[in-house]
Amino acid sequence: MPKANDHSPSRRRFLQSSLQTTGAGAAALFAPGVVNGYTAQEVQSFYVDGEMQRNVSKWELDTPALCVDLDLLDANIDTMQTTLASNGIASRPHAKTHKTPIIAHKQLDTGSVGICAAKVSEAEVMFQNGINDILLTTTNVTPTKIRRAMNLRQACPGFIQTTDSPENARLLSEAAQALGIVADVVVDVDPGGNRTGITPGQPALALAQLVDQLPGLTLRGLLCYDGGSQHVMGFAARRDQTLGRLVAATETFDLFNSSGLSTEIFSGGGTGTYNIDHATRGLTDVQVGSYVFMDAQYIDIGGETDNEVYSDFAPSLTILTTVLNDQYAGRCTTDAGAKACTINQPWPRVKGETGMDYTSGSDEFGTLRYGNDASRTYKVGDKLELIVSHCDPVVNLYNQMYAIRNDRVEAVWPIAARGMSA
Ligand SMILES: Cc1ncc(COP(=O)(O)O)c(C=O)c1O
Repeated sequence: MPKANDHSPSRRRFLQSSLQTTGAGAAALFAPGVVNGYTAQEVQSFYVDGEMQRNVSKWELDTPALCVDLDLLDANIDTMQTTLASNGIASRPHAKTHKTPIIAHKQLDTGSVGICAAKVSEAEVMFQNGINDILLTTTNVTPTKIRRAMNLRQACPGFIQTTDSPENARLLSEAAQALGIVADVVVDVDPGGNRTGITPGQPALALAQLVDQLPGLTLRGLLCYDGGSQHVMGFAARRDQTLGRLVAATETFDLFNSSGLSTEIFSGGGTGTYNIDHATRGLTDVQVGSYVFMDAQYIDIGGETDNEVYSDFAPSLTILTTVLNDQYAGRCTTDAGAKACTINQPWPRVKGETGMDYTSGSDEFGTLRYGNDASRTYKVGDKLELIVSHCDPVVNLYNQMYAIRNDRVEAVWPIAARGMSA
């Protein structure tokens, strides 16, 4: 995992440039006269029929508060869609990252072929919120979950279930038959991490042939998500690793084709390899998740043009936090600890500032330590904005995110699938 460090020249420039976009020091932005500390309930009460009835600056929000910068979010979605379109590949973004149906709709409205979900409960929430094309990338093994997934398929014809073993395929087929449906399935192929999926080549082919023959199932293709390559440091090393590891999946794709099996879907890839994945022959779409928000883990892996900073996508997701104590030299204490930020590392970064290190190891308290080159210090009551360490688990800590434009709250978005981990 990359190390926390904002002291390299390239990373300093990147963190400081975020100040010009939305940071506390930006000049032309809406700033409040009095800091009210509006609670989530109060802000929600100002948000009527999709419109804010009152001007609320993000700096007026009670903290910790999860915010998404709309301009940056839209730019990230646009960069992804434009790049993939020019590379001749589609996106099927992973909703595990945002758990927010409004963002899934934005992705679908801008050209994604569907969304992915990690858990059946997450998929159910997306369907209940008007999303009809959902690929569940995790195999369900218990009778309860298999039944739940097949019930969802009955209600949602665009639902596709993943399987990775013959036993599981038989159980899926039986459950589908019990409901009088034929369920769509993709075979999950292991890219070499041995976490999930079936071994590529003959084992995957045999499973696909079984799915094709079972009366309750229809084979739609395969999935091979190479999570172990997404955070490889340096573009060239990342490209070489993922393209090497996906060779076996392409050979499996060829075996499916030569056996007359469906390869309509060959899904894989993520934010770290989105501009590499099209070189894997046969791949139809990438399951990109983090690109909408970005995080410190991804910033550190380096991009194609900048080996130190992955700046293809901007950090749109931030946590606002308030300073609670400034009495001790070289540090201050904030109200955003592990329960607001997680303990994932590298630690969160203070947006727009350099020369300081944030840690969120205490349950309720964050610690900010100033280096000799700190760009500023903070006083009790000051607010600061954190770029999150790892976006997915952070989102799962909040009931809503504030959608911000030019520092003003434009909408309150329920994180409807928050906590849907089963
Ligand atoms: C199966 C699967 N697909 C896609 C993704 C999205 O990855 P990323 O957030 O790196 O784009 C993940 C993330 O863990 C995943 O587990």
